[in-house]
Amino acid sequence: MTETLQNRTVLVTGAARGIGAACAHAFADAGARVACADLTDPAETVAMIRAAGGQASAFQCDVSDEASILTLFATIDDQLPPLDVLVHCAGIIHEAPLLETSAEEFDSVVAVNLRGSFLVGREAIRALQDRPGRIILTASDLSYYGRETFSPYVASKHGVLGLVRSWAREFAPSILVNALCPGPIDTDMLAAENMTPEWRQKELAIPLARFGQPQEIAQMALFLAGPNAAYITGQGIGVNGGSVMP
Ligand SMILES: NC(=O)c1ccc[n+]([C@@H]2O[C@H](COP(=O)([O-])OP(=O)(O)OC[C@H]3O[C@@H](n4cnc5c(N)ncnc54)[C@H](O)[C@@H]3O)[C@@H](O)[C@H]2O)c1
Repeated sequence: MTETLQNRTVLVTGAARGIGAACAHAFADAGARVACADLTDPAETVAMIRAAGGQASAFQCDVSDEASILTLFATIDDQLPPLDVLVHCAGIIHEAPLLETSAEEFDSVVAVNLRGSFLVGREAIRALQDRPGRIILTASDLSYYGRETFSPYVASKHGVLGLVRSWAREFAPSILVNALCPGPIDTDMLAAENMTPEWRQKELAIPLARFGQPQEIAQMALFLAGPNAAYITGQGIGVNGGSVMP
């Protein structure tokens, strides 16, 4: 049990599945009160947490939509004690050669991954006011290098690190701002409908030669939210099987 997270209010986006769901479970196991938010209803995550004796509630939102995010934070403010930690995991991926990528496809990836990080992060920092807190966004190992046929996604994840590095300076020392930088993780994002089989195979050409598990990212989120990460801000933290060594 991470004592310092006991009864802390933690917002986890993307909590319906994958890395976000794993983070919601990990924080609930550590005693936090977890607000689970997602575009699709995160009711299953919430039900599992409650069945295990944890504290969680479900919220639906679209992270790319400002009105939806303002409503989300107003609702959380009404229903829960003040926010302590944000773990922002919601995101989408899109694979296509550049010359077959429309401006609308570029806009939709950037809207969810970068504008969504801006909107959710800004409102979380507003909710913290002058209290100490932790902001954890989700970037990627692709925040550090390029990848053919994924340029809107890669650009959006480079942008997330820009937010982290700027906010870490703007809100020091009370709010620590960092990004998770996962390598290939075994979630629906890497499922066949999102990635060609060739790319799934290429993802395994890393030193540890396996996909990571969502729980392995959640453990890093827990660490970044806890007392032992008090001297860490403005960083992208790789949990990536050695896929990138910046
Ligand atoms: N899986 C990987 O290999 C990997 C690697 C690096 C980074 N990441 C990042 O980790 C994060 C989580 O990815 P995942 O693998 O769990 O993916 P996932 O597809 O399994 O889950 C993403 C979640 O985000 C939600 N979501 C999507 N659009 C949304 C929106 N507009 N508003 C609110 N919620 C929305 C989805 O409903 C889903 O529950 C993403 O930011 C992703 O870019 C994943």
